[in-house]
Order: sequence, then structure tokens, then C-alpha cells
Amino acid sequence: MKKGVSFLVTVAFMALASFLASAYDPSPLEDTCVAVDEPNNAVFVNGKFCKNPNLTVAEDFLYQGLNIPGNTSNYVGSIVNLINVDQLPGENTLGVSVARIDYEPNGQNPPHFHPRASEVFIVLEGTLFVGFITSNPEHRFVSKVLNKGDVFVFPFSLIHFQVNIGHTNAVAIAAFNSQNPGIVTIASSMFGSNPPINPDFLARAFQLDKRVVEYLQARF
Ligand code: GLV
Ligand code: MN
Repeated sequence: MKKGVSFLVTVAFMALASFLASAYDPSPLEDTCVAVDEPNNAVFVNGKFCKNPNLTVAEDFLYQGLNIPGNTSNYVGSIVNLINVDQLPGENTLGVSVARIDYEPNGQNPPHFHPRASEVFIVLEGTLFVGFITSNPEHRFVSKVLNKGDVFVFPFSLIHFQVNIGHTNAVAIAAFNSQNPGIVTIASSMFGSNPPINPDFLARAFQLDKRVVEYLQARF
């Protein structure tokens, strides 16, 4: 009996210890955070400095203009207006941000992922074909045609995209569970990196002719 009690106490203690261990490190809010000894060239992480709460004003929590359509004349025919903590300082430490996405007919928000967030996606206007792909090795493609009023979820950090398959412009709102979700666009990251990645390496990785890789690198 005594043995049973001490076993339970040990299990409870280990559960508490592992909870404390996983609660200790917060999720990163920046792409990188290299340790430095000298604070002069350092920035504050995780997130931003906080304004004295007694000095906050309503404008700190306000962004105006999300009703204004973005300019979609670019190579994908869509535009994302992401209101993260840099645009709306009141989001700091709250783990939320929002975006408006405009699409012209046939426009697409190309394959991308958010390194620090899941996304709730709401169609305000138009018809969009949307999808995400699950991680290795399944690569399950989960897709749906969405209409006005439909809500879809893109799970944390998975590659996803939207295409306007309607004949009119489309508009959507995306909500994120991070003040700085980040956006990694697959094509421009891989073929438009700075400095460029060796085209021989990319040709093998993507199973492409090296000339195709060089063509893509010149475009991005
Ligand atoms: C849509 O997926 C967006 O991230 O804006
Ligand atoms: Mn997204």
C-alpha cells in the first residue's frame, strides 16, 4: 500500500516537473534570437517592450482601414494586408493578429505557411478553392471550395494556399493565434533566397532541370 502511494507521488511529481519544463520556454516570436553578451547591440525578446499601462490610449488598440481593398496587380493576383504587432501595438503579448486578403479572378495566395501560428480563414466575398497539405510522409491534401460566410482552419505551420475560382473579386479575413505569425512563401523562399541557393542543389531537391531552377531564381 505504502509502495503504491509513493509510486503515485512520484508520478504526480514527474507530471508536475514535465509541465513546468514545457511551460518554461515561451514559443519564439522572432525568426531568430542569437545570444549576445553585450547588451548594447541587443533587442528585447520575446516580443516588444510594454508601454506603461497608465499611459495607454485607445489608439494603441486601434487599426483603421481594413475595409480598403488592397492592390492585386502583382504576379499572383492577390494581396495580404497583415495587421501584426508592428501595425497594431496593442496586440503585444496577446497572441492574436488579423489579415485581409484580396484576390482578383484567378488570383491566388500562393503556397505558404506561418511558422508561429494556426489560421482561421473567413470568406467575406467570392468563391475560393483552398487547401493545406499535412506533414511527411502522408502529404494528405485537404481541400475545399469556400463561399461567402464559410470558415476554414489552416492548422499550425502547415503549407496552405487559396485560389479565386470565381468570376468576381474575392475578399477574406484571416485570424492568427500569434502577434507575429510570420509568412513563409514556399516558391519565393526557395528560389528567391538571399544569397541564392546553389541551383544544382535545388535542381536535385525539386527534381527539376537546372535551367528551370535558374529561370525561377531569375524571376524571384
Ligand atoms: C492566408 O492564408 C493568409 O495567410 O493571409
Ligand atoms: Mn495563411
